[in-house]
Amino acid sequence: MEKLPKITDSNLLVGLETGDDAAVYKLGQDQALIFTLDFFPPVVDDPFSFGAVAAANSFSDVYAMGGKPLLALNIVGFPVDLPKDILTEILRGGYTKAQEAGCLIAGGHTVDDKEPKYGLAVVGLVTPGKQVTNAGARAGDSLILTKPLGTGIITTAGKQGVAEPQILDEAVRIMSILNADASSAMVKVGVNAATDVTGFGLIGHLRGMMVGSHTQARINLSRVPVIPGVWPLIEQGVVPGGTHRNLSGEGQEVQWHVDITLQQKLLLCDAQTSGGLLISVPETKADALLRELEANGVEGSVVIGEVVGAGTQPIEVLP
Ligand code: CO
Ligand code: CO
Repeated sequence: MEKLPKITDSNLLVGLETGDDAAVYKLGQDQALIFTLDFFPPVVDDPFSFGAVAAANSFSDVYAMGGKPLLALNIVGFPVDLPKDILTEILRGGYTKAQEAGCLIAGGHTVDDKEPKYGLAVVGLVTPGKQVTNAGARAGDSLILTKPLGTGIITTAGKQGVAEPQILDEAVRIMSILNADASSAMVKVGVNAATDVTGFGLIGHLRGMMVGSHTQARINLSRVPVIPGVWPLIEQGVVPGGTHRNLSGEGQEVQWHVDITLQQKLLLCDAQTSGGLLISVPETKADALLRELEANGVEGSVVIGEVVGAGTQPIEVLP
């Protein structure tokens, strides 16, 4: 996109420049569209679960901006020689999540593909000016994460056949959770910035937010929530390629405390699917947000660190 002409339009409230995953377009005084799409190959074997996770992930960019999904279209790649009931199950998983989100799936498009792929293009609504972006974090904010890390490592273990079934089930359960309740909590309390944690891992998405906001973050590894069972897998060397790429990319721009091990760095860089919201909230409102998240049933949200003024490196990680 960098090589293409830059698009500017007074109604385009959020475009490419803040590094956000969704575009926001103002329709009128009261309404703006949020528009986003996401699709990927199966992260788990079960087609229904894959569909549900992919849909939850696609809605996530709307929720991260404080909006509500309204309408979606299926994006499907599917091999001609695979049984069609597998595709039906993928779509059923997606429809189930869409129903939960109160979003209509109104059609879509399928192409022949060597490997299945599924996701949604989603249109959501937000009040113009109320959209939450990557770019509003301020020094002194608390950083809150609403889902534990480790889904990349666990799904890789699943593909390699080395994941305990209950660990895999827990990862699927966590990936399937809509970020709807986390989003409504943050909208109610009022926050400075938010993003969802997906393929670039916690470090990559936090870095995007800090660069977009011209701030720096200091996080504590010990505070970061992790899905139980992840550490032994990392120690066995079960780490997805995307996670290694994240560490050798964005991970190089992090000021790592000397006590942080390679395994710990990999966890913080783990490529997530349908991860939680990473929210930058004024410190004075952090407790209120945690209470609201809990009241909304968002389990295990925690403060993982804080935003400090602009420094030499966008992120510092302490033990
Ligand atoms: Co996305
Ligand atoms: Co996103």
